[in-house]
Amino acid sequence: MTVEEKLGQLQQLTWTGDTGPGGGQTAETEAAARAGLLGSVLNIHGARHTNELQRIAVEESRLGIPLLFGLDVIHGFWTTFPIPLAQAASFDPEVSRRDAEVSAAETRTNGVRWTFSPMMDVTHEPRWGRIAEGSGEDPYLNAVFAVAKVEGYQGPADGTELGGDGRIAACAKHFVAYGGAEGGRDYNTVDVSEQRLRNHYLPPFKSAIDAGAATVMAAFNTVSGVPAHGNAHTMQTVLKDEWGFDGFVVSDYTGVQELIAHGFAEDGADAAALSFGAGLDMEMVSTHVVDHGKALLDAGRLTIERVDDAVTRILRLKYALGLFDDPYCDESAEITEPTAAARAAARDTAARCMVLLRNEGAALPLAATAASIAVVGPFADSADLHGTWGGPGARRYPSVSILDGVRAAAPDAVVSHAGADPDEAAAAAGGADVTVIVVGEEAELSGEAAVRSDIGLPRGQEELIAAVAATGKPYVVVLVNGRPLVLGDWFDAAPAVLEAWHPGIEAGHAVADILFGTVAPGGKLPVTFPRAVGQIPVYYNHESTGRPVDPAHPDEKYVSTYLDLADGPRLPFGHGLGYTTFSTSEPALGRDEISRAELARGEQVTVRVTVTNTGERAGDEVVQLYVHDVAASIAQPVRRLRGFERVTLEPGATVTVAFELGEEDLGFWTNDPAGTFLVERGRFDVYAGTSSTAPARTTLRVL
Ligand code: GLC
Repeated sequence: MTVEEKLGQLQQLTWTGDTGPGGGQTAETEAAARAGLLGSVLNIHGARHTNELQRIAVEESRLGIPLLFGLDVIHGFWTTFPIPLAQAASFDPEVSRRDAEVSAAETRTNGVRWTFSPMMDVTHEPRWGRIAEGSGEDPYLNAVFAVAKVEGYQGPADGTELGGDGRIAACAKHFVAYGGAEGGRDYNTVDVSEQRLRNHYLPPFKSAIDAGAATVMAAFNTVSGVPAHGNAHTMQTVLKDEWGFDGFVVSDYTGVQELIAHGFAEDGADAAALSFGAGLDMEMVSTHVVDHGKALLDAGRLTIERVDDAVTRILRLKYALGLFDDPYCDESAEITEPTAAARAAARDTAARCMVLLRNEGAALPLAATAASIAVVGPFADSADLHGTWGGPGARRYPSVSILDGVRAAAPDAVVSHAGADPDEAAAAAGGADVTVIVVGEEAELSGEAAVRSDIGLPRGQEELIAAVAATGKPYVVVLVNGRPLVLGDWFDAAPAVLEAWHPGIEAGHAVADILFGTVAPGGKLPVTFPRAVGQIPVYYNHESTGRPVDPAHPDEKYVSTYLDLADGPRLPFGHGLGYTTFSTSEPALGRDEISRAELARGEQVTVRVTVTNTGERAGDEVVQLYVHDVAASIAQPVRRLRGFERVTLEPGATVTVAFELGEEDLGFWTNDPAGTFLVERGRFDVYAGTSSTAPARTTLRVL
């Protein structure tokens, strides 16, 4: 390969697209492919489209190196699954595995073998629109769902299936700490200690890499002053040296160019030298490594060894994906629409993602005998409940509206509809046995560059709820949103509130499945719902502080709280109700069936929790395990999620869930930049229950 051809492999250009500055540039992209000066193309799909462009690269360039096509398939290609935040709410990683497997099959037959997913940015910033794209505020939950997605896209960690049908390369993004942006403002500063970086933001990426994630995408933000796109500590030292990552790191869209705006690079040449010198391997859309790479090599500001390393990493993945064996896709095998099976998977997963936030007097499930039902609100008949980063399918295949879902579930009922007007909604409610109010956010209020400074229900929706409530007729509220919301006083008066998130293509049927009890709600909140924007950041895995609020002394002034706000969140991480009731036992510690509350070095301890369905209906419960290191050389979160299991139980049935705890669950990283993981002796409180506020606990002593 010539130097120019090597540098060309490090370049990714867009085909067309509106995901940021740049837009379509098909002629430039074709020319680069023909000259053999292009490694990858994003925002292209379709068997014919991709084959046409691939033929130019393979049959017209000197070396015929195939192109790698990438696309944002975040929660579906043709079949849109619930947004990732909703998937995390299922506390069932199989939900995300199914999304990934269906998406990979659809994507691969459309000529694309690489998705820029899963996003695993831990965040407790509900103002940040991209909270919709990840798995919420907990590192462990993000890690579990990231692994499920990576394996669903790629197959086993050894990469043996990556070249096969139905498999695509994953991309762990955004590396790293993007979810920590100050003020929740997208692309904003992240100033984070080494210990928080390693204990909070890095764990999902380590798990994804261990699961074989083929690629990583750099984040737009700075990490303690050094932009992630030029950060040798994160990209080279941690990712490649410490973790042994042998895939490649792709920039985010114009992320190399943005090093200039960051005030980190003087010009394009500087940006290319700094980013690739820090461990970046491929430049998305901006073209500085191609434009300036030769001069940088001649000037010794970039080494040929670094370039060869990046080229090797990229070619290695192209080989693994089978591109050299067969660079084209079979146009006759192209999946062109959601299949019935894919829709069924989307419907089932969407229902599993929903969280019953409130249900007074068993307002839900709705009686199948309801003679008249009103479905009202701005999203009652919306056919766009895909949420942010819907794939090509979101633009082509409308989602099932909640109005249509209710009509299909209650064919004998008179189902009326009213939109966003409070008076019309109240009139409809007045004439119905029960009203379903559908409020929330349109998809555009979630996702990239969609930051809200006020995260209440958008304008007029609380008035609509009030107008319906004033009729005195029964009603329930369904939320369709992509972030935690500040829930107004209406929440405490509502008979029932169902968090449906943005449920995807089968939204209406999935919501109706829950509303009528065909499916019992079993989801839990993967993010805290604050009482007010002024309370942010508020998250469950916080430090205690030296002056925590003592519930036994609520009037104590000199504690860490607000004068004008009750303490604690509106709804905690892990919260979620069902249509039945459960009892859970105290956590029991033991080893080999022997009660054991001590852990010696290198040992594991089993934590057993017994759950019983004490109600009249079958239902799901999520048993959650949390630990708290009571005294450590670095102040620890008051609770850390270290295990969870969603169980389904018939009335009266009982099951014992067992978790294994070891040093890796109890230890923590220190502020040592070289990476020191400590497991300190002493007392750990072990909590188990059905939310992060579960009181049941026992004590474990690490010897
Ligand atoms: C966007 C996003 C990134 C996405 C990329 C390609 O700006 O930050 O998540 O994968 O560009 O569309």
